[in-house]
Amino acid sequence: MKWLNSFFSMALLVIFHHGQYCCQADQSSPTHHCVFARTNGTHFVVNNKPLYLNGFNAFWMMYMSSDPSTRSKVTSAFQQASKYGMNIARTWAFSDGGNDKPLQISPGIYNEDMFKGLDFVVSEARKYGIYLILSLVNNFKDYGGRSQYVEWARERDQQLSDYDEFYTNSVVKEYYQNHVTAVLTRINSITGVAYKDDPTIFAWELINEPRSNDTSGKLIQDWVNEMAAHVKSIDNYHLLEIGLEGFYGDSKKESNPGSYLVGTDFISNNQIPHIDFATIHLYPEQWLQNSSEDEQASFVDRWIQAHVQDSSSVLRKPLVIGEFGKSSKLPGNSLQKRDTYFVKIYSDIYNSVIRGGPFTGGLFWQLLAQGMESWGDGYEVVLEESPSTANIIDLQSRKLKSLT
Ligand SMILES: *[C@@H]1O[C@H](CO)[C@@H](O)[C@H](O)[C@H]1NC(C)=O
Ligand SMILES: *[C@@H]1O[C@H](CO)[C@@H](O)[C@H](O)[C@H]1NC(C)=O
Ligand SMILES: *[C@@H]1O[C@H](CO)[C@@H](O)[C@H](O)[C@H]1NC(C)=O
Repeated sequence: MKWLNSFFSMALLVIFHHGQYCCQADQSSPTHHCVFARTNGTHFVVNNKPLYLNGFNAFWMMYMSSDPSTRSKVTSAFQQASKYGMNIARTWAFSDGGNDKPLQISPGIYNEDMFKGLDFVVSEARKYGIYLILSLVNNFKDYGGRSQYVEWARERDQQLSDYDEFYTNSVVKEYYQNHVTAVLTRINSITGVAYKDDPTIFAWELINEPRSNDTSGKLIQDWVNEMAAHVKSIDNYHLLEIGLEGFYGDSKKESNPGSYLVGTDFISNNQIPHIDFATIHLYPEQWLQNSSEDEQASFVDRWIQAHVQDSSSVLRKPLVIGEFGKSSKLPGNSLQKRDTYFVKIYSDIYNSVIRGGPFTGGLFWQLLAQGMESWGDGYEVVLEESPSTANIIDLQSRKLKSLT
């Protein structure tokens, strides 16, 4: 196994060294497998076969793997996930400033232990046959986020009025671009492969759940345009998505929950050519707090339907639900309700796939390894302790696999 792995790395290095990237549109040689996931219309393909995604979120992975005493949690999560046929994980490739284990201590200054932790995450993912979506910054304050970037610029005498200047200030934008460059060009200390050349990485995500107070949407639209171009200028082989929750702008705000208008527009943001696929998140119990369970359930249907429709007929790009889950902390919830909800989301994906639709992947929020109780947010799934949920996940993996 070890030997095979290093052989695989060597083979990759040889391929990359000769510049024979097999995923270019004109590459048709049957002797070169297409190792990078890519899109074909509204579908994902890899090795000239369709690829459907069933996976999980585990934002904590770099954090746990940076410390040898907790590293086994990462291995155990991947091992459990692969046991139930999952093929993708989404995790943070950021931790900016603050005291609690930053990856980026200050602009351009990195904590090597954390980067080595991320190296381990990537290397374990490859070992267990699981793709990664790596998110590059947070909209929110957890693990730094755009407010940390703005504070960094303020410390260097930039006059910034509010955190929305993350999207516009040229110093802040340069810090962010430098971080993108640092991650994408990182050489994995375990595999020796640069992240930008590693097909274990399924996609880059620009920012987890971008929002702004600019309801015209111009701020985020311009930022995505500029930053997507930056990512592609370094790495034109990996897929790229934004990290959107799916909220529409003014022109289609009636499809949003309540009166949400958060500065994004699912359609125009995803129409940017460098964006390869669209994402939605789904938290009806947070977005429609005061609505009945029935109203929330019908919102779930409308939300998925609207985005499937737009992805199929307007964007013509694949659609992935990057986060969904049910919190056990909310009154009235139960394991059975969570399972029923997972079945519902999974069948929407499956039904879209069998009809040739764009809704081709789902990642639940969030997977924890055993013994991580303090990380629980109510949404956690511990596979060893939730056999009914594990079976539902397993069935979805097998149903999707039978279609490839
Ligand atoms: C890509 O899409 C085209 C058109 O739908 C289809 O004919 C082809 O088989 C697809 N290729 C792969 C590798 O799925
Ligand atoms: C802007 O949005 C943030 C949340 O992202 C909020 O905390 C802040 O109060 C808003 N500022 C203004 C001026 O509305
Ligand atoms: C739900 O109702 C509470 C109490 O009436 C109110 O404070 C809160 O703003 C409402 N939440 C939403 C999302 O409308």
